[in-house]
Amino acid sequence: MYFVKLILIVFLWIEIDCKPRSSNSTLPLTNEILNRLYTEVLESDNADLVTDLLANAFGHHQSQQVDPLSQLSSSLNTLNNLASTLSSFKTVTPPMKPSNDSNWSDDPDANRTTQEFILSRGFSYEDHYVTTKDGYILHLFRIINPYAEHALGADNLHPVLLQHGLFATSSVWMLNSFDEKIIPWVHEQKSEMKGNSLAFLLSNSGYDVWLANNRGNSYSQNHTTLDPEDDEFWDFTIDDMAMQDTSAVIDYIRYLTDKKITVIGHSFGTTQVLALLSFAPHYSYYIDMFIALGPIGYFGNVKGPFGKLLDSSLALDIVGLYDGKFPPKIDRTIKNIFTSFCENPSLRVICTAVFDMIGGMNPDKIDESRLGVYFNNIDYVSMKTVEHLFQAKESNIWRLFDHDEDTNNDLYGYETPPKYPYSNIDLDKIILISGLNDRIASTDDVQQLRKKLKSKIFHDYIVSDKRWNHFDYIYGIDAGEQVNNYIVNVLTKYVEHYPL
Ligand SMILES: *[C@@H]1O[C@H](CO)[C@@H](O)[C@H](O)[C@H]1NC(C)=O
Ligand SMILES: *[C@@H]1O[C@H](CO)[C@@H](O)[C@H](O)[C@H]1NC(C)=O
Ligand SMILES: *[C@@H]1O[C@H](CO)[C@@H](O)[C@H](O)[C@H]1NC(C)=O
Ligand SMILES: *[C@@H]1O[C@H](CO)[C@@H](O)[C@H](O)[C@H]1NC(C)=O
Ligand SMILES: *[C@@H]1O[C@H](CO)[C@@H](O)[C@H](O)[C@H]1NC(C)=O
Repeated sequence: MYFVKLILIVFLWIEIDCKPRSSNSTLPLTNEILNRLYTEVLESDNADLVTDLLANAFGHHQSQQVDPLSQLSSSLNTLNNLASTLSSFKTVTPPMKPSNDSNWSDDPDANRTTQEFILSRGFSYEDHYVTTKDGYILHLFRIINPYAEHALGADNLHPVLLQHGLFATSSVWMLNSFDEKIIPWVHEQKSEMKGNSLAFLLSNSGYDVWLANNRGNSYSQNHTTLDPEDDEFWDFTIDDMAMQDTSAVIDYIRYLTDKKITVIGHSFGTTQVLALLSFAPHYSYYIDMFIALGPIGYFGNVKGPFGKLLDSSLALDIVGLYDGKFPPKIDRTIKNIFTSFCENPSLRVICTAVFDMIGGMNPDKIDESRLGVYFNNIDYVSMKTVEHLFQAKESNIWRLFDHDEDTNNDLYGYETPPKYPYSNIDLDKIILISGLNDRIASTDDVQQLRKKLKSKIFHDYIVSDKRWNHFDYIYGIDAGEQVNNYIVNVLTKYVEHYPL
């Protein structure tokens, strides 16, 4: 998601410095133009402008000695050319579709935290703090639905743990739309449930919903001895989120509820759960079903500009130079810059396009008026985690983090870090939910995972919308219809209230 911001900053620069200041200066970018752009330029093999841009920006075609500043300025020039290209579409555009002109900052969800999201929908919550073996203090939320508790008895609700992916927090499960409120149960019966935000849908459907927060995100920046201001706090990768965070959270919930847990992950949240189940197969015993949305078990075939960026050795070198958190800072000022840029009705569609370029083109399925809410919920990971992504792309498999050979030898007993041993996974109710247009969990990579887990896949659900992308699970305006209804049906049908 940082790259989203990078691209936006560059576009912002164009907006400020490169265009005449007149009321006619904004680019008339409609969805229609963008769709044309996708088919004519971005998706074609011979003119992948954006890919070239990124390759230029990160020196893919150049020697690594080149001064980063001159590289930046050359890529800004290229972007400038892109801007003129975009402007030239003006002459051939049919009239603009009316776009939603409401301001992001007027959206009451814009500045909401997980807690505020929950309360604003009429639910309440409990705070739980889980301390991992290595001292991180994780903020775990439990959504409380008094209607469901009254109807079924608080002890009878089945626990479902929602595990977010990278650059995200517990809030991703709740921010799809504003109209998903708590729904009273009539005569102790729930009504027909529908909804785009999985957390609220599950709570309304009578599940005991737990929202995890990985170490390092805004809710889990605390430690028994380390200070989040120090780089040492940020010395972790997905391996630690799997083996330390996910295991601690599952242990915590099972001690408290004495029940098996359904785990639902999105994106790299699925990698985390797969890693835990591989290295500590006994965790299968505590989980009755694992539902993986946009599953990432392999990572060699990431498509589009993001994939190209992960291939860039210069980008990797840059990432390797830094410790600490990533992005280095997300503050109000930065958020406001993006907000004011993307709030501009004519430019908004560029912001949509950035999501699309990274996750897969599905521009009609994102609510542009909600982009501010989505941007505001982008969050921190460690720099090392980013480095881990590069490693996974290069090796086409998740291995434990690759330090240098000596450190690997000390830590793992091998010079090359061990692969995540998926064949150890002992859970027989795994549900893969995947999309055909997902560039991050690409069809090739999902296929590799499918083959590897063959006998353990209980259902293999491919979303029927052929343009379903990586972010549609979270932001898609059809998330309820395409995915969430399926999840609730499968839980109703197969998940029993197993005691441990
Ligand atoms: C903006 O464009 C319209 C129609 O193309 C033109 O009539 C008007 O003079 C332009 N305004 C400015 C400030 O350039
Ligand atoms: C515009 O967005 C607001 C919320 O930001 C929403 O209530 C409204 O229905 C949207 N209007 C259109 C025409 O999409
Ligand atoms: C958006 O904000 C601008 C400036 O604050 C204001 O002039 C405009 O009326 C607002 N638009 C809406 C739809 O509220
Ligand atoms: C969100 O915060 C920004 C900056 O503090 C403020 O301008 C904006 O009005 C806030 N929006 C809401 C809905 O509170
Ligand atoms: C961090 O955790 C400690 C121990 O639970 C607590 O006393 C402290 O208030 C927490 N700090 C923050 C910033 O949440």
